[in-house]
Amino acid sequence: MLILNNVGMTYHSGSGPVEALRDVNLEINDGEFVSLLGPSGCGKSTLLFIVTGLTVPTAGYVTIDDKKITEPFHEAGFVFQDHLLLEWRNVLQNVSIQGELRGMDKQVAHERSMELLHMVGLEDFKDKYPHELSGGMQQRISICRALHHDPKLLLMDEPFGALDAFTRDQMRVDLERLWAKRNSTVLFVTHDISEAILLSDRVVVISRRPGTVLEQIKIDLPRPRNFSVSESAEFLSYKHRLTKTFMEMGVLYE
Ligand SMILES: Nc1ncnc2c1ncn2[C@@H]1O[C@H](COP(=O)(O)OP(=O)(O)O)[C@@H](O)[C@H]1O
Ligand SMILES: [Mg+2]
Repeated sequence: MLILNNVGMTYHSGSGPVEALRDVNLEINDGEFVSLLGPSGCGKSTLLFIVTGLTVPTAGYVTIDDKKITEPFHEAGFVFQDHLLLEWRNVLQNVSIQGELRGMDKQVAHERSMELLHMVGLEDFKDKYPHELSGGMQQRISICRALHHDPKLLLMDEPFGALDAFTRDQMRVDLERLWAKRNSTVLFVTHDISEAILLSDRVVVISRRPGTVLEQIKIDLPRPRNFSVSESAEFLSYKHRLTKTFMEMGVLYE
């Protein structure tokens, strides 16, 4: 279980201090899919970096299974908005790099990569190079890479932000399928209300900066959530409620 205890973060840069996060308290259960939903600049990326241990908070602390995070947490997988694939490595080599860095047996790493590529329908592209693929394919590969060492915690920072609407919908369905098979805990950052509802077991709304937990909504939609879910009355009611929250925050207005 992942717990954030009164986490706060103030950056000190040339133009004076910037308080990005204040008193963030959150508990995430094993195997849960949680979205952090909030406007741009509210501290979502900062929060993910604090969970990785790469950024040290200026207040509070994070624990994973009762152990305080004091150094980079290598068991996590991370997917960014920009896929950051290595251009000089082909698809298979990009996915397998995690295994190589962790000293995994070459054959085991290879099989694991092929299994993941198969799950996202890209096994036939294993010898291609990143520039030969579409944005959606590249992002699928970066998700495979993040899952390669079977992380118990997957951290995703607006991973579909740069994709077109069709590709986003498809990626969402693919991600749900991968997650259902692996049972990892996912912390997914987005500023897209529909995406947060469709993916999550729970949506955590982060306020404007300094970001703090404003509201938490459990999403009780059945899984797998196929394309028609976004037409259901339940989905629309969640969307209505969250849109209202964003209007009250002054992020959306009529
Ligand atoms: N390394 C940094 N140094 C100084 N300020 C930063 C740094 N990283 C983020 N910030 C500031 O912290 C605030 C939150 O940023 P960020 O966590 O990236 O928000 P979000 O991901 O929600 O858009 C912003 O005002 C941003 O300018
Ligand atoms: Mg961000």
